[in-house]
Amino acid sequence: MKIFIKTYGCQMNERDSEAIGAQFLAAGHVLTPSEDDADVLLFNTCSVRDAAERKAKGKIGYLKKLKDRRPDVLLGAVGCMAQRLGDRLLEELPHLDFVVGTGQLHRIVAIVKEIAQKRNRQSFTEESRDVLVGMGEHAPDGGAFGQIAITRGCNRFCTYCIVPYVRGREISRDQRDIVDEAKKMVDHGVREILLLGQNVAAYGLNGDTRPPADDVSPFGELLEKLNEIDGLARIRYTSPYVTYFSDRLIEALKNCSKVCHNIHLPLQSGSDRVLKAMNRQYTAASYLHYVDKLRAAIDDVTFSTDVIVGFPDETEEDFQMTRDLMNRVGYSQSFIFKYSPRPGAKSALRPDSVPESVKEERNQILLGDLSARVEKMLQKQIGDTVEVLTEGVSHRNEARWTGRTGTNFVVHFEPVPGLKVGELKTVKIERAGGVSLFGSIVK
Ligand code: 5AD
Ligand code: SF4
Repeated sequence: MKIFIKTYGCQMNERDSEAIGAQFLAAGHVLTPSEDDADVLLFNTCSVRDAAERKAKGKIGYLKKLKDRRPDVLLGAVGCMAQRLGDRLLEELPHLDFVVGTGQLHRIVAIVKEIAQKRNRQSFTEESRDVLVGMGEHAPDGGAFGQIAITRGCNRFCTYCIVPYVRGREISRDQRDIVDEAKKMVDHGVREILLLGQNVAAYGLNGDTRPPADDVSPFGELLEKLNEIDGLARIRYTSPYVTYFSDRLIEALKNCSKVCHNIHLPLQSGSDRVLKAMNRQYTAASYLHYVDKLRAAIDDVTFSTDVIVGFPDETEEDFQMTRDLMNRVGYSQSFIFKYSPRPGAKSALRPDSVPESVKEERNQILLGDLSARVEKMLQKQIGDTVEVLTEGVSHRNEARWTGRTGTNFVVHFEPVPGLKVGELKTVKIERAGGVSLFGSIVK
């Protein structure tokens, strides 16, 4: 069969889609980038905000035309929205053939085969402890960037978040499986690995939601093991929950030369009152304490974050606290989300009280702060010499290549003859644009 996969949502979904693709390849099927010649179209969906669900439903709804033209084609919704809605999605979209939630993705090939034979509409949403395994020998050839899911699910139950309900309880994979998968990827040419999990720093803690003791960090130990892999250039990870940065983890970050100096540290709000209502287990002051500790340990570390504006009853004062804290930390990147009530999550029981126009205004203010701050951070680097991992020809200008610093700034430069994707190069920064740096390779 020819399989087409379209992905919505986060990096975990991107990774799941890669792994789904790998399972079909391993079973002798082929992947196609074209909707028109596919036998099976899979939509890997997201539930984190209402807009994400509407987008995927809209797309699947639109494909009714394709289904009318080619009734044999199978349309399937998989992933988070599939898990959340199950049969209801089959009712809502009468030309959708099947639904496979996050709990059953490891069986996707067998499920699609069964549906293709029986032609009966079904949804599969039982929870399971099986993890959708990674790429293995089906890693895309020549790709220098790979992703590994090290945990699945989340135990934290932030009150706004649907993830614990659609991805289930937190499970960590065996350290040995992860290291083996990483080695295989490196054998296939991967140079940078991104470790993924809803809370990667909770790795190996058996679902305990209390901050680990200061001498404990199975995640730090995993980083140290991965750091030893010959041929691997860089390790990134996302996202860690702030209270899991024990001294042991910070020590591991210092020990591991391949672990990048950029930490995505979701803040969500800078107001203690709102943090409490969100069931986040820190205050603005304790969050800052971790930031200070990390800065003291890793002097060039940069931070990025996620923030929600317009949580129920968020006042102008709460918002100012968020804004102040963001400026104080000085994030080099921030993802700002307008609060969206998710049926099933606890905060959806409260009225969505902040008007859309206020959410939008707060969003714009934070975006403005971010671009002003980033411009300054980029300007400051003119004249510096940085190390970049090459990513290939620039999308904007074919004469240039791009790469990224460990601190996660994008750098454009002229290629030298024979330059390959996934090489570490030293670049001297000559000028700065609004969102990226420009320089020349010196080594
Ligand atoms: N509304 C808005 N943003 C949300 N996020 C999670 N749930 C919601 C919601 N209901 C944001 C959080 C999280 C990011 C992945 O998405 O900021 O860190
Ligand atoms: Fe959702 Fe909170 Fe878990 Fe992140 S830590 S996935 S925001 S419940």
